[in-house]
Amino acid sequence: MTEPWRPDEDGQRRGASGPVRVRVPAKVNLHLGVGPLRRDGFHELNTVYHAISIFDELTARRGDTLSLTMEGEGTGELALDDTNLVLRAAHALAGYAGVMPHARLHLRKQIPLAGGLAGGSADAAATLVACDALWGTGLTREELATVAADLGSDVPFLLHGGTALGTGRGETVSPVLARPTSWYWVVAIADGGLSTPEAYREIDRLRDNGAAGPPLGSTDALLAALRQRDPRVLAAALGNDLQDAALAMRPALADTLKAGQAAGALGGLVSGSGPTCVFLAADAADADRIAAEIEAAQVCRQARVAYGPVHGARILY
Ligand code: C5P
Repeated sequence: MTEPWRPDEDGQRRGASGPVRVRVPAKVNLHLGVGPLRRDGFHELNTVYHAISIFDELTARRGDTLSLTMEGEGTGELALDDTNLVLRAAHALAGYAGVMPHARLHLRKQIPLAGGLAGGSADAAATLVACDALWGTGLTREELATVAADLGSDVPFLLHGGTALGTGRGETVSPVLARPTSWYWVVAIADGGLSTPEAYREIDRLRDNGAAGPPLGSTDALLAALRQRDPRVLAAALGNDLQDAALAMRPALADTLKAGQAAGALGGLVSGSGPTCVFLAADAADADRIAAEIEAAQVCRQARVAYGPVHGARILY
């Protein structure tokens, strides 16, 4: 069995005495290939994850119990009880490391709830990194990824960040090695969310009825496009098997996608299980212009500019 925590030289666990603040990004899927439903209720995936510059922040302070407060996106809507992924992550880490789950946690959210940007998974990843530092549990990256995978399929990627291949149910992550390139995105955030399990059920239903497009399959074309470092080439390779499901559940997303195309985006797609739509721009200035046009078309709550790839969950101080 692996040692669940790394003692310091004198054998004591050393945590941080001051607050630990962690920043974590949102993700989009540049390619989301959904395979068959497995016996465990998950679908086999072939995906390319990409971390973008919309961030949540989680601050962990010492406390006598475990508590969570929040501000920003979703405040008043997101339950702050033990169903919350932040508290589940804190309990999971404490259980793994054999420590008491005592901390005062505060979440500042910019990533919308149920938006297809993995906001909840991002917050779980941030909690693991913050509490590991606060409690001095010193897990290796592999150990953190193991705890992360139990919390949700996207959580290991949010620890990792960058651009990465996801397989299995999405929890097996390997980095995509490419020369550094920044891609500029317009992120059209919808009013209200979509349920991820419902989107997966909907794609199964559409496929059973012959009403879904052909499955995307392998990530090879997308990976080759990334290596070419040309946004036009990347735009042509973007794809998401859950897009048909999201459009069936929220037909108005077709107007959002059309507005991005009309504004001159190089490509656009639904992010993950939606309803957020993302559009690839030629450069930063083009992204600003496209965002303004999409906002003027009134097809979403907000259009934001973001770039990627960015790091996964990282300690700010
Ligand atoms: O892993 P996570 O908890 O984020 O998944 C939420 C839900 O999305 C799962 O309960 C399942 O219904 C669906 N899902 C799936 N196949 C995957 C990932 C998620 O069917 N690979």
